[in-house]
Amino acid sequence: MPASPKLVTGAAPQGATDATSAAHAVRDMFTSIAPRYDLLNHVLSFNIDRVWWRRAARTFREILSRPEVRVLDLCCGTGDMTFALRRQAGKSSPQSSPNTLPQLLGADFSHAMLQRALSKSSSNSTNAKPMPRWIEADALNLPFPSQHFDLVTSAFGFRNLADYDAGLREIVRVLRPGGECGILDFGEPKGMMGQLYRIYFKQILPRVGTMISGVRGPYAYLPASVERFPLPEEMLTRMRQAGFTEATWTPYTFGIAGLYRGKK
Ligand SMILES: C[S@@+](CC[C@H](N)C(=O)[O-])C[C@H]1O[C@@H](n2cnc3c(N)ncnc32)[C@H](O)[C@@H]1O
Repeated sequence: MPASPKLVTGAAPQGATDATSAAHAVRDMFTSIAPRYDLLNHVLSFNIDRVWWRRAARTFREILSRPEVRVLDLCCGTGDMTFALRRQAGKSSPQSSPNTLPQLLGADFSHAMLQRALSKSSSNSTNAKPMPRWIEADALNLPFPSQHFDLVTSAFGFRNLADYDAGLREIVRVLRPGGECGILDFGEPKGMMGQLYRIYFKQILPRVGTMISGVRGPYAYLPASVERFPLPEEMLTRMRQAGFTEATWTPYTFGIAGLYRGKK
């Protein structure tokens, strides 16, 4: 029997009463864990997160090989997905002159997360082209003209938006016709693997996350937000309703994560 749809509007951290308070709570939460975010990501995912970013970036190697494309990494946080796109772009168009390389932009609404992205990009900038630029912006109200980008990605950020449909519509708006979107996010694996994973994700991860970050809340919010997030079939329906002509989902690592792709 198909799973019943989760008809939710968007993320709802504890205590949030509407979309505005949900967005503020999400921003405060990421700002509070920004100093330890990278360490926790790698520890809690046993470093598989690096594989997922790389795999998602490789999916878009054809777009990234084209000269002068514009790429937006939404909810970029400390920039790891953006850096994976940069590495892929470097491999895909190794002979390009700096003027024709893809233009990479990472956007996030947490200043503290962006500061870390910026310091990471200045510390390993040698020979690494194209250089990403960073911008503080709300994914639900992007400061870009319509039809501006060839590719929009978001890794583990979309799930935190206070309104998923509004987020999809905003991505469609800023994509040029024929442009593509890739949303990488957590899923809920099924079967025995799913049972084991749920024990880890709900019991162990929140405790370890709280211990290392020193902040109570965000690491209990994480499994709750994944549980709340639409299942793949529903997410794909929402993508089509938002204006994507093609929408697919590819599970990564037994469905612990997965990549949604859409074409405008
Ligand atoms: C789990 S982190 C993901 C960061 C990075 N993409 C990664 O893969 O590690 C989620 C990020 O989404 C950002 N975010 C959530 N809602 C946002 C919104 N409405 N606009 C911009 N950024 C948002 C948060 O500030 C946070 O940095």
